[in-house]
Amino acid sequence: MSGIPQAAKGDISIRGVSKVYDPSGARVTAIEQCSFDVAAGQFAVVVGPSGCGKTTLLNAIAGFDTISAGEILLDGEVIASANKQIRPGSDRVVVFQNGALFPWRTMMENIVYGPVRQKTMSRPEAERIARELLRRVGLEGVQDKYPGELSSGVQRRGEILRALINQPTVMLLDEPFRALDAVAKSVMHEFVLELFDFSPRTMFFITHDLDEAILLADKVIVMTTRPARVKTVIEVGLPRPRSANVTGAARYRELKQSLLEVVHEEALKAFQAGEREMA
Ligand SMILES: Nc1ncnc2c1ncn2[C@@H]1O[C@H](COP(=O)(O)OP(=O)(O)O)[C@@H](O)[C@H]1O
Ligand SMILES: [Mg+2]
Repeated sequence: MSGIPQAAKGDISIRGVSKVYDPSGARVTAIEQCSFDVAAGQFAVVVGPSGCGKTTLLNAIAGFDTISAGEILLDGEVIASANKQIRPGSDRVVVFQNGALFPWRTMMENIVYGPVRQKTMSRPEAERIARELLRRVGLEGVQDKYPGELSSGVQRRGEILRALINQPTVMLLDEPFRALDAVAKSVMHEFVLELFDFSPRTMFFITHDLDEAILLADKVIVMTTRPARVKTVIEVGLPRPRSANVTGAARYRELKQSLLEVVHEEALKAFQAGEREMA
């Protein structure tokens, strides 16, 4: 076996990004002066209080929404800036919070749908790659099943494979396992770690779950209470290939402790702000 493959592309640079929503004059500053980098092939996980602006930032990187100040670069090319047209692209693929599989198509049909429709692959080629992906993650038995016949954990894995078959430079995931129970979640973690090892690419992953953040990430970006700024960036530095066993390591416990402290501080601020609003 050769070593772990490296991703050559996928450098993200977020520079002084702000986002102000102005629905009917009620200004909401969702992100303020946010700057950080994610190197090609890095697994970045963003954590922060609810409503702080994480999804807003992900949408800006995906090219789904504009920003109000600053710029976002992908491999040196501006993909978003305050006065520039946003540019979505097949180099970035989003895995949404809620399921997006077509219930009337089999898992195989769902996975190959994108590249076949966009004519980036012939159907036989897409099916060959889909079968290979399913085999690598031990899901070869599900290809002819409909989503409704499968557990939510298997459906979620199918959705991620459906995104991966496009070979995006960057994968953006917005709390993808939020609705899963602890057991299904741990299966998902093994799945994502394995995918990341054999098919590394830049990952931008949002979660509330601190264990999930440390287990998966190379870098954890902690956001402040709204407006979202970068509170701190934690370099995880746990070795790869990684598995759930890593949670027993002293370094893991250290990281968890320091992450808990910063997150707790921000959660408290959010809570107090909420209380003031309600008073
Ligand atoms: N389309 C929008 N119009 C106005 N305000 C919005 C819109 N989308 C999000 N917001 C506001 O921006 C803030 C950040 O939202 P969001 O990015 O969804 O937070 P998070 O994902 O961290 O929970 C919230 O206060 C939210 O109400
Ligand atoms: Mg969100």
